[in-house]
Amino acid sequence: MADKQAKLELGGKTFEYSVLEGSTGPDVIDIRKLYAQTGAFTFDPGFTSTASCESALTYIDGDEGVLLHRGYPIGQLAEHSSFMEVSYLLLNGELPSKDELDDFSYTITRHTMLHEQLMTFYRGFRRDAHPMAIMCGVVGALSAFYHDSTDISDPTHRTISSHRLIAKMPTIAAMAYKYSVGQPFVYPDNSLSYTGNFLRMTFGVPAEPYVVNPVVERALDRIFILHADHEQNASTSTVRLAGSSGANPFACIAAGIACLWGPAHGGANEAALNMLREIGTPDKIPHYIERAKDKNDPFRLMGFGHRVYKNYDPRATVMQQTVREVFDSLKVTDPLFETALRLEEIALSDPYFIEKKLFPNVDFYSGIILSAIGFPTTMFTALFALARTVGWVAQWNEMISDPGQKIGRPRQLYTGPTERDYIPLTQR
Ligand code: ACO
Repeated sequence: MADKQAKLELGGKTFEYSVLEGSTGPDVIDIRKLYAQTGAFTFDPGFTSTASCESALTYIDGDEGVLLHRGYPIGQLAEHSSFMEVSYLLLNGELPSKDELDDFSYTITRHTMLHEQLMTFYRGFRRDAHPMAIMCGVVGALSAFYHDSTDISDPTHRTISSHRLIAKMPTIAAMAYKYSVGQPFVYPDNSLSYTGNFLRMTFGVPAEPYVVNPVVERALDRIFILHADHEQNASTSTVRLAGSSGANPFACIAAGIACLWGPAHGGANEAALNMLREIGTPDKIPHYIERAKDKNDPFRLMGFGHRVYKNYDPRATVMQQTVREVFDSLKVTDPLFETALRLEEIALSDPYFIEKKLFPNVDFYSGIILSAIGFPTTMFTALFALARTVGWVAQWNEMISDPGQKIGRPRQLYTGPTERDYIPLTQR
């Protein structure tokens, strides 16, 4: 694996480091002994050049716009697979047989209910609380309810807690929505699919039957597939870092949710739709493009650019097709979709965006679909968290099972004052 070597010259000495090769993708210089040998650290804020772990789950080639889960291209999974099947794939490494998929779906379905006492947590929040605030709190609180699955050294506990998290997330997200609109919570209906059940818990009411629209169900399931995992992004790295100390999985996923909430990450879908609403009509686009290019203006085109993709985000392509399908099925039109298409066209022909390789990302179109389905913007990131839970859980399991796993502990380039004596208050 490591016949290539990298040489480093420092302080007149030469040091050699092994170069590790993955199954595909860039080589990795193994600098684990760097500090012990040289007394120096590497400096890499934002980890733009650092591989923090070994992983066999997801591969991204950002220059080519490739995203693979366990080797399978995201486009194929979005077209042919289901979220349950992709969840199984991420957790277990292979696509399931029919029996394996049925068993897995059955298990997940049997964990969809929440402990009844958890309902009281919701009532402690203000009605106008952001669903992500509720998600952070309630998911963290799961560890206080499911003690029987928090021993991370026990593989059975890890499996049960993983299933519980994947299964309960739709119930938790739907209840956050119900609480905000003042409607009664709707209990899960295990005769429905994972996504159909979530739609019913969100939009159904106890007073009448809820019929799941299959096109909407399929579109949302596809959105879940597109958000299921994405390598070592900020929230996944947060989950791994939290988990590296031995914290229980419910606490780790709550940490991931907190990270995902930010507008540079999962919050971008909400921010993208808000931006499109602010732009309004295509004639206003040039003004906003100029603002995005102005170094003195903090405005950025939300839903554009990505730390890893320097090409079209393959998820954005599927998302754009899905907008059309949902619009056709629901017989709706949204002028914002036209604005979005025009904005994409103008941005992609502008030298600023071309030079910086800024393309639409997954969040550029997702808000338009979610809004057409009926979700308020504040729910967008909660849906992202729901779907990403499987990726977080799969990554967390991979980390805990890795014999080489260590507590995450980055170092720093210290630029503060050197040692000095304390000055009593009277002399300052
Ligand atoms: N609009 C305008 N300019 C941008 C944008 C944008 N959306 N994104 C990046 N740039 C510019 C930056 O100003 C910077 O210019 P400079 O080199 O002249 O300083 C250059 O492109 C590189 O940007 P960085 O922020 O250094 O790139 P980084 O990889 O760190 O950031 C990020 C990626 C955070 C996603 C960024 O593109 C962004 O803020 N986009 C908008 C938010 C967004 O859509 N986030 C969703 C990401 S997808 C996800 O989380 C699922």
